[in-house]
Amino acid sequence: MKILAVIASPKGMQGNTGRLLNEVLVGVEESGEEIEILSLKTLNVQPCVACDLCHKTGICNINDDYEIIKEKLLACDGFILASPNYIFSVSAQMKALFDRCNGLIHCMALEGKYVAMVETSGGGGDDEVLSYMSRFVNTLGATSVGGAGSPIAGVRTFPDEENLYAKARALGQDLCKSIKDKRVYPEQDGFRAEFKVRMSGLVDMMKDYWPFEREYWAKKRTR
Ligand SMILES: Cc1cc2nc3c(=O)[nH]c(=O)nc-3n(C[C@H](O)[C@H](O)[C@H](O)COP(=O)(O)O)c2cc1C
Repeated sequence: MKILAVIASPKGMQGNTGRLLNEVLVGVEESGEEIEILSLKTLNVQPCVACDLCHKTGICNINDDYEIIKEKLLACDGFILASPNYIFSVSAQMKALFDRCNGLIHCMALEGKYVAMVETSGGGGDDEVLSYMSRFVNTLGATSVGGAGSPIAGVRTFPDEENLYAKARALGQDLCKSIKDKRVYPEQDGFRAEFKVRMSGLVDMMKDYWPFEREYWAKKRTR
């Protein structure tokens, strides 16, 4: 099983978010699964320019690392999204990636994948950011298995560190177990079902302009 971790701190794995993500990855490792870390610090993901080409062709026209990340997201069994809290939301690096996933969202192309989330903050508001990330995950069609978030207590340290790290390791294990068991999270079904109606309706409305997504949904409906 392949687990991808996408970290969106400008400090890469060396910051607070990397420290907490590391514990989640220990949980994944304990489950015996393969890990690949993608750091948006070293990858180039430019902001979306709203050219709509992804909707028309399935491919983004910006010449950067997004298509590589997209292929890895499509190929993995599950993934982890890790971001610092920047002004009540994710970092700009993570938001750029979210926006570039617009084509994947229209197709809800990551249906069947499971996702864990990691967030750290200077002083709190962690649940708000985790819940935003979880909604993003559901718009991709994927399932959120939960998140680990915390304010910091200093550089790469957290209050109640023992409990937080135990929770983070359990999250990593739970991610792997959810994938193996194909676990159902019924509380996410309502939002996803409504979003599916919305996205398939949008693509239907735009069928003359967005042939790639029209064909994707035609195939998806017969699956
Ligand atoms: C641009 C910027 C915005 C931030 N905004 C917030 C915020 O709104 N709330 C908060 O509690 N911490 C905020 N912080 C602090 C970071 O969330 C916190 O230090 C985090 O642990 C950094 O993670 P990192 O070391 O992995 O980059 C901000 C930091 C920066 C640089």
